[in-house]
Amino acid sequence: MSNSTIPSIPTITLNNGVEIPQVGLGVFQTKEGAEVEGAVQAALEAGYRLIDTAAIYGNEEGVGRAIKASGLPREEIFITTKLWNANHAYDDALRAFDESLARLDCGYIDLYLIHWPLPMEGKFTQAWKAMEKLYGDKRVRAIGVSNFKPNHLEELLKATETIPAVNQIELHPLLQQAETRAYCAEHGIAVESYSPLMQAGDALEHSVIADLAQKYGKTPAQVILRWHLQSGLIVIPKSARPERIRENLDIFDFELSTDEVQQIDGMDQNQRIGADPDTADFK
Ligand SMILES: NC(=O)c1ccc[n+]([C@@H]2O[C@H](COP(=O)([O-])OP(=O)(O)OC[C@H]3O[C@@H](n4cnc5c(N)ncnc54)[C@H](OP(=O)(O)O)[C@@H]3O)[C@@H](O)[C@H]2O)c1
Repeated sequence: MSNSTIPSIPTITLNNGVEIPQVGLGVFQTKEGAEVEGAVQAALEAGYRLIDTAAIYGNEEGVGRAIKASGLPREEIFITTKLWNANHAYDDALRAFDESLARLDCGYIDLYLIHWPLPMEGKFTQAWKAMEKLYGDKRVRAIGVSNFKPNHLEELLKATETIPAVNQIELHPLLQQAETRAYCAEHGIAVESYSPLMQAGDALEHSVIADLAQKYGKTPAQVILRWHLQSGLIVIPKSARPERIRENLDIFDFELSTDEVQQIDGMDQNQRIGADPDTADFK
């Protein structure tokens, strides 16, 4: 692919000055081995520079292999991975980081996230202190959280020194998370949308989205991803199919009007497809 077809992806500057691409590839449920390597290869060829994995996805090795095989300089790629729920105790968190980094084999991590708060365990501040240590030791360029509601963030901010750079949360037109977004905006925490396409759920079929897709000659997924971008969110759609991986990045040649963004804002139904972070306790 020639450089002229590779889009220039906007970045967001995090609260510590690090820049993160606003669009990335998610690899949840993309199988370790050929599938994840093929997805990451297709993404990097299409111009993606952010890959979002997690220890629990079981595909960090494949992600690392595909990044190396691309021949791209390490510093051009932004790698996110996440601390799994069983490892919130301080020493466990440090060990889990070492294991993720060994699997990715990429020198350092760009963004390390606490995957879920598990408020019933009461250990996320301990985990955060381990994240602060990793950040202080320059083994990770930014630290953040995932699935944190304002009450969890409030507790974290009271007990620790560093404000998270990112909060990665379920966010799509049917679950717009106004309260958490307002809290994050007030504290300088960037919001990253996961399951941005609602895992190919009802949002893709909605008439507001279908009408806009027809108007702009784009697909429903592209309209939804454009809404995330124009809403100032970081967005990490997952696909294991090269055509869709390319489709999901082909969102820079049209712009929704303010009124159209508001029409999508009007779709919110507080409809969650994933677990509620207050009660999710899986390990
Ligand atoms: N922090 C967390 O707790 C958490 C939780 C969930 C997800 N995440 C992250 O967020 C990423 C994205 O979320 P997600 O994987 O849950 O869901 P998603 O990106 O909203 O949707 C993925 C689904 O949509 C399909 N799809 C992708 N592009 C499409 C297109 N253009 N048209 C139609 N269908 C399309 C995919 O199928 P194909 O693969 O067959 O194309 C897949 O079934 C994850 O991969 C992960 O990195 C984080």
